[in-house]
Amino acid sequence: EKITLSVIKADIGGWPGHSRVHPQLVETAEEVLSKAVEDGTIIDFYVATCGDDLQLIMTHRKGVDSSEIHGLAWKAFEEATRVAKELGLYGAGQDLLKDAFSGNIRGMGPGIAEMEITLRKSEPVVTFHMDKTEPGAFNLPIFRMFADPFNTAGLVIDPNMHMGFRFEVWDIKEHKRVILNTPEEVYDLLALIGAKSRYVIKRVFPKEGHKIAKDEPVAVVSTEKLFEIAGEYIGKDDPVAIVRAQSGLPALGEVLEPFAFPHLVSGWMRGSHNGPVMPVAMHQANPTRFDGPPRVVALGWQISPEGKLVGPVDLFDDPAFDGARQKAVEIAEYMRRHGPFEPHRLPMEDMEYTTLPGVLKRLEERFEKIE
Ligand code: 13P
Ligand code: 13P
Ligand code: MG
Ligand code: MG
Ligand code: MG
Repeated sequence: EKITLSVIKADIGGWPGHSRVHPQLVETAEEVLSKAVEDGTIIDFYVATCGDDLQLIMTHRKGVDSSEIHGLAWKAFEEATRVAKELGLYGAGQDLLKDAFSGNIRGMGPGIAEMEITLRKSEPVVTFHMDKTEPGAFNLPIFRMFADPFNTAGLVIDPNMHMGFRFEVWDIKEHKRVILNTPEEVYDLLALIGAKSRYVIKRVFPKEGHKIAKDEPVAVVSTEKLFEIAGEYIGKDDPVAIVRAQSGLPALGEVLEPFAFPHLVSGWMRGSHNGPVMPVAMHQANPTRFDGPPRVVALGWQISPEGKLVGPVDLFDDPAFDGARQKAVEIAEYMRRHGPFEPHRLPMEDMEYTTLPGVLKRLEERFEKIE
């Protein structure tokens, strides 16, 4: 029997500024989802936060892209937005870009990561929650989990995953996708996903012959682009991801290991700066220095045979990640010293999606031709 795990998230108001979610918004979302458990729409849920982003983690039997589930998420965000407005929170309803729900939450502002899976005898899962960055921030860690033998020992020593995986990569500018096989196409894959503002890993699948059917995802990332929907800068597309672990997949520690390196991602202040992504426990996911640096939270779950979410375990709440946090602080300090200069500020091409074009437009008529 198949269970669907849906993580649907939105920034519906910050407290204060863009720093964190007010607890009353969490409570409001919990009330809406509790009723949905009572009436049988969903099996179980948890409401998580990372920075100013609110994430609804839900299990159900309605498959991906269910209008019932998406409508439920939209309702939870709408009710919490009402509370955000009452409290005068910053950017209340920021990511709700459409007035009325029309069957699918895709393209309406919220980010979505969903997978329909056949539960294994034991189903360990990690949900990742990022703030102050964008979907491409997952490229490096997901690559390392499923394709880098220096990260994932299992690729070398476990016969159940030695054959590698398939990566579904989206070109988010041209709206096209391609599937690449690892290890044989690792260099092609890296040629694309190294350009993380354009090519993003959407899903990872097993190969033929794996214990898990080859059309069942083992990882999925939200790839919604806010700028494209809103037509102007209103905040970054702070992403979420779901990764399954163990028995033929990366072990839990192999899923977390890439985050011991606080790699540089785009986002941070005004969605316009490069900075390190800091792995933190949920209570530390309150970006304040220059509205950052960017954060990632990892929540661990076992899904019970009835589809209950047994968790969360706050996985970066481990002193073994103190070094990564300290390194992120050092990198943040180093990057900040560049002020408005690249590569702290994003390259011109990526600044298109911010408020900078408005400034440049005003200078246009001052330019004169050099003979
Ligand atoms: P345990 O022996 O603690 O179950 O660990 C097995 C394992 O594969 C750890 O990566
Ligand atoms: P969010 O995308 O988290 O709302 O941040 C927007 C911003 O401009 C932070 O400086
Ligand atoms: Mg915000
Ligand atoms: Mg945010
Ligand atoms: Mg945002």
